Amino acid sequence: MGIYFYLRSMKNIILFASGAGSNVQAIIDFFKDNKEVVPVAIVCNKPEAGVLNIAKAHNIRTILIDRNSFKSEAFVEQLKAFNPSLLVLAGFLWKVPDAVVAAFPDKIINIHPALLPKYGGKGMYGSHVHQSVIDNQEKESGITIHYVNEHYDEGNTIIQAHCTITESDTPESLAQKIHRLEHHFFPRTIEFLLSN
Ligand code: GAR
Repeated sequence: MGIYFYLRSMKNIILFASGAGSNVQAIIDFFKDNKEVVPVAIVCNKPEAGVLNIAKAHNIRTILIDRNSFKSEAFVEQLKAFNPSLLVLAGFLWKVPDAVVAAFPDKIINIHPALLPKYGGKGMYGSHVHQSVIDNQEKESGITIHYVNEHYDEGNTIIQAHCTITESDTPESLAQKIHRLEHHFFPRTIEFLLSN
């Protein structure tokens, strides 16, 4: 295999996260022996986020953003320089600027911890979602992996996976069920998208 072919077959992914980063960890673990799919950078908006320790432990470059740098043309250029095949929002809580969406058409995906279109939109993230689902006495919840467009949680759905909710479930126990679904389906969905 020539070096040119090898480089062409490399699929760089950029991970975006705001918190603990358990999804980022699951993605890194899943692709660790895969020579073609490489997490090349982690974009984070919180200097104290746990995901930065994960980045350090795996020697993955981090890009710490603030509101201004996130919206800058320089940021778009910085992302382009990685030649990414996919931008993956894995627990990332800021709305992606239109310029970034426009620069990477059909190359940005997000995971949401509910069955969209229910429990989506501004303010619906993490434990707020699970609290609302429990408050409304839903019988099931799940995850949605979808493309990102200019509107919060409104891009085309790629997959959904469901879980049942029992009477004894709390927002915390539901969050655990959701995380299990996420850690299983998110890396496999990324793999599927990159193979097509
Ligand atoms: C995940 O459950 C993800 O679906 C959710 O944040 C959590 C991050 O967990 N994302 C959103 O709510 C986006 N609206 P993690 O940091 O352990 O991966």
